[in-house]
Amino acid sequence: MILRSIKKAIKKFIIFPFRQLTAPKKKKFCNQQIPKIKYTDGSWLTIATTPDQQRIEDYLTLQQITVKQILHIGTGNSSFAKKFHATNFIDSITIVDDELDYAIALNLPNYRCFKLNKYSNDLLRLPVKYDIISDNNLSSFACCQQHFEEMMRNYFALLKPNGYIITDKKGMAYHQDFAFPITVDDLKIILPEAKFSIQEHTVIIEKKLD
Ligand SMILES: C[S@@+](CC[C@H](N)C(=O)[O-])C[C@H]1O[C@@H](n2cnc3c(N)ncnc32)[C@H](O)[C@@H]1O
Repeated sequence: MILRSIKKAIKKFIIFPFRQLTAPKKKKFCNQQIPKIKYTDGSWLTIATTPDQQRIEDYLTLQQITVKQILHIGTGNSSFAKKFHATNFIDSITIVDDELDYAIALNLPNYRCFKLNKYSNDLLRLPVKYDIISDNNLSSFACCQQHFEEMMRNYFALLKPNGYIITDKKGMAYHQDFAFPITVDDLKIILPEAKFSIQEHTVIIEKKLD
């Protein structure tokens, strides 16, 4: 218990700020036409939902969302689908086989899971448009800035009018060694037509029809 608290404190106060300071410069291009998957956190199937993902789920629970078509990026342990499938339609994507297998084996009504690299244009092959796209790790696993920006525009294209992307500031800061953090201002440049609203950690990026 004490050891876990010490480990947590070291991560929070030493490792995490150090990573922010030494963040690699954004790689503009990876020079791959089809972006390669770059992800090193491994399967999240048996790991607890991250705090940023949890906050998104709490926010949507408070909104009492119903009959929404939702795209959940980063399936993990399928907590998102378990929470919302009964009254909504959930598609989820992952690049990890056992997360996919588990999601399919759950056999939940209104829940589909696909193996798909979110930084690739394959995203546009998803069969429907969405009211909500939830992604707590927008740039965390990005191969390069170009493909990250393409992904953001693809998310926007996948939204229904008045739909929104929901993310969290913690995940926007988290990045793997090859990737980079992003700010709300970065996102405003990529999606100038979007309307942004921020509530503490939660960031909402809306496709507003005026
Ligand atoms: C650290 S786990 C987090 C799981 C869950 N979202 C949470 O926060 O509890 C990262 C998730 O992102 C997914 N992922 C990583 N890179 C991806 C990519 N390029 N395209 C789609 N999913 C990706 C992984 O498959 C995994 O489900």
